[in-house]
Parts: sequence; structure tokens; C-alpha cells
Amino acid sequence: MKVLIVGSGGREHAIAWKISENSSIDKIYCAPGNGGTANENKCENVNIENIDELVVFAKKECIDLTIVGPEAPLVEGIVDKFKENNLKIFGPSKKAAELEGSKIYAKDFMKKYGIKTAEYAVFEDRKKALDYLTKCSYPVVIKADGLAAGKGVIICENKFEGIEAINKLMLEDIFKGAGLKIVIEEFLEGVEASILSITDGETIIPFISSEDHKQVLDGDKGPNTGGMGVVAPNCYCSDEILDQFKKDILKATLNGIKEEKMDYIGTIFFGIMITKKGVYLLEYNVRMGDPETQAVLPLMESDYVELILNAIDKNLSNVKLKWKEKNACCVTAVSKGYPIKYEKGFTIKGLDKVENKMFVSGAELQEDKLITSGGRVLSVVALGDTLEEAREKAYDDIAKVNFEGIYYRKDIGKRKGCVHEN
Ligand code: AMP
Ligand code: GLY
Repeated sequence: MKVLIVGSGGREHAIAWKISENSSIDKIYCAPGNGGTANENKCENVNIENIDELVVFAKKECIDLTIVGPEAPLVEGIVDKFKENNLKIFGPSKKAAELEGSKIYAKDFMKKYGIKTAEYAVFEDRKKALDYLTKCSYPVVIKADGLAAGKGVIICENKFEGIEAINKLMLEDIFKGAGLKIVIEEFLEGVEASILSITDGETIIPFISSEDHKQVLDGDKGPNTGGMGVVAPNCYCSDEILDQFKKDILKATLNGIKEEKMDYIGTIFFGIMITKKGVYLLEYNVRMGDPETQAVLPLMESDYVELILNAIDKNLSNVKLKWKEKNACCVTAVSKGYPIKYEKGFTIKGLDKVENKMFVSGAELQEDKLITSGGRVLSVVALGDTLEEAREKAYDDIAKVNFEGIYYRKDIGKRKGCVHEN
């Protein structure tokens, strides 16, 4: 088999690494890939990002399966285009991808299908949104409707911050159209969990739970990032919480997917908040998480390609996923200044001493050297019988890596008050 992976981050590197285990795969093209996929077993990078050009490439190279990493091409309709051209692809249709592409669509879907989510109001008119701020209790959460590269959610502590956020989105239009419509929603207090899952439109199979660390500084301080590290399983996801999630969120979502007749074969990622009032759904993503994928796929015992092919054949009801009885800890190293302003172009050293798996997010291969090219640069992922063992291994390894301005959080997986500890 020849597989094409669309995307260029650490998530795509982890997907490429995981599927390279499958012996029926001869070749994996990564479009455009990165310095990590360039070196991965069976992989070759191809410098294409445009959907029409990807279709041409997939036809020319007789690609057997395409896996889409990021949300943007899904929302743009890459799956519909590939299917029109009789090409096998794993991902939701353009319509289904609106569950991530439009926060308003997602919230209305949750409401329609009785899924527990924060109270919200939708605004297209800036003046009405500003008026609403006088009635809110604070903090309040303001969200751009469209895709905003993970930056479209603003938590406002008071009315003044709310006014500033609304003006940035609706007046200054900082997200180029994506924030002209907004959702203002109730702030929920609790702990978050990421539940990646796979669906064939008839069944949803949840993966092992995981916990992202979104803020840049230790102790969950500083601005939100794409994710600074992940542990899996998520120690707050007790059996009781997972049962609540399955009953109130997963089942109701599947019902909605069927009722809306969505063509949804792909990943569905539930961002949940575990609160004192129960489990709430914060958001859907229609793709794997980054860096959740880097921690979750190494724990997957089952073959990921077979799983995807079963989804495409609408056969997930007959699949039983197997997981390693281990804990994973993924620590992400970023460039100094990320997520605001950072420099790139530095040589990464010490990688030869890394003993566990390393996934590249933002680095290019130049004459056998990896050179930083992004805010998030790479992650080290280690498995252990306990979370503590996994943490120690990951931190031992990341300490061996160096590039100018390297920064990583020191407290990934260091949580207090977990309901159960593995
Ligand atoms: P989202 O893209 O909706 O997941 O939002 C990004 C992040 O903002 C989430 O992971 C949460 O940390 C935070 N967030 C979103 N909605 C809420 C909410 N209603 N209450 C508290 N935090 C939220
Ligand atoms: N790590 C969060 C996300 O992928 O959306």
C-alpha cells in the first residue's frame, strides 16, 4: 500500500511513525511533512499543500489511502474532493467538518441533541454583543465562530476585557472573517480531558483518554498554546467519568451525526470539562489532537491502518481496540517567546542521545541537520508502568536536547488530586 498523509506537524509525524509499523505499507508520502517525517521509516516528503494538486498527486502515484492531519483542509472540503475522484480518504466530509469549522454550528448541534455544554449566546452584531456584556457574570468566554489557528477563544475576567475581545474580533477583524460572528459562553470551572475517537458514522470508538497542557508556563499560567505536553491516560477520567461521557456526550453525538445524515468517517475529538456539576462538552475537533496524538498513538496496541480501513468499510462495530497497559508522557519543547513572538533557524543538538521516541513539530532537515522552523519544535514521548516513570524518562531525554532558546514546561503530568492514579 501507498499512503499519503496531509499535514506538517508533530501529529502527522506520529501518524506516519505509527502506520509505518504495518507491513502492508511500502511507502508513506507526507505532504508537506517536516524534518521528522523526512527521516521516518518508509516516508518521503512531497511539497504540496493545495487540495487540487493533492488530488492530482494521489491519482498519479496511485495512492491507496489518504489520511488528513489538520482541520483546515477538512473544513475546506478535501474529503469531498478526493471522494469525487474515487480516491480513498479518511476524514469527515466538508459538512461534518463544520463541527469544528463553526463554533456556532457546533453549539447549536450540541443544544439540538441534548449534549451538556456551557450556556451560550450567538452574535453577528457587535453592538448587541457589547450590550450582552452588561448582563453576563464573569469570567465569560468569547469565541470566534470560525477557524483561528487555536487562538479564537478568549477568556475575559471582566466587562472591559470583554469589550476589548469583541472589538478585536468584530471590529478590527483580527482573524480575517473568522471572528465576525461570535459565541459568548458561560465559563466552566473544572479539569479538561481530550478524548480522541474514531467513527464510521454508525459507531464511535473512544481512544484512551489524555490530558493536554495548554498554557505555556508551569502551573497553567501564561497564554494558551497549541499544547505544551500531554499525558495519557488522563488521571481525572475515572470509569465513572468515562461512563458519564459515553452516556451523555458520545451517544448523543452519534445520534446527531446519524440524524443529520452526516458523511462522517474519521476522527472525532471531544474536548471535555469535568466539573462539579458533571461532564460538559467544550468543543469538537474533527481531527486528532496535537500533541495528544504523540502520546496516544504510542499506547495503541492495535494496528492503526487496519482500524482506519475498518472505519472506511463501516465495520467499526466489530472492532475491539487494544491498548498498552502503560502511561505515556509527552513533553513539547518550544522556541523562546512562543506562542507570541519567537525566532527560528537554530540547529537542534543532542538528538542522537535521546532514548525514547522524538516527534518533530517545527523543524526542517537541512544537510542532515534539524533546524528549528516553528514555535513548537519537537516532543519527546516516553512510556512507563507508572506516570512517574514515564515522566522521568521523558524529562531525562528532553534535557539532552538543545537549541538556542529551548523552553519546555517542567510540570507535564504533575497533577494533584487525581481521582485515580495508574
Ligand atoms: P476550545 O477551542 O473551545 O476548546 O477552547 C480552547 C480552550 O479554552 C479550552 O481547551 C479551554 O481551556 C478553554 N475554554 C473553552 N471554553 C471554555 C468554557 N466554556 N469555560 C472555560 N474554559 C473554556
Ligand atoms: N491540543 C489541542 C488540539 O489539538 O486542539
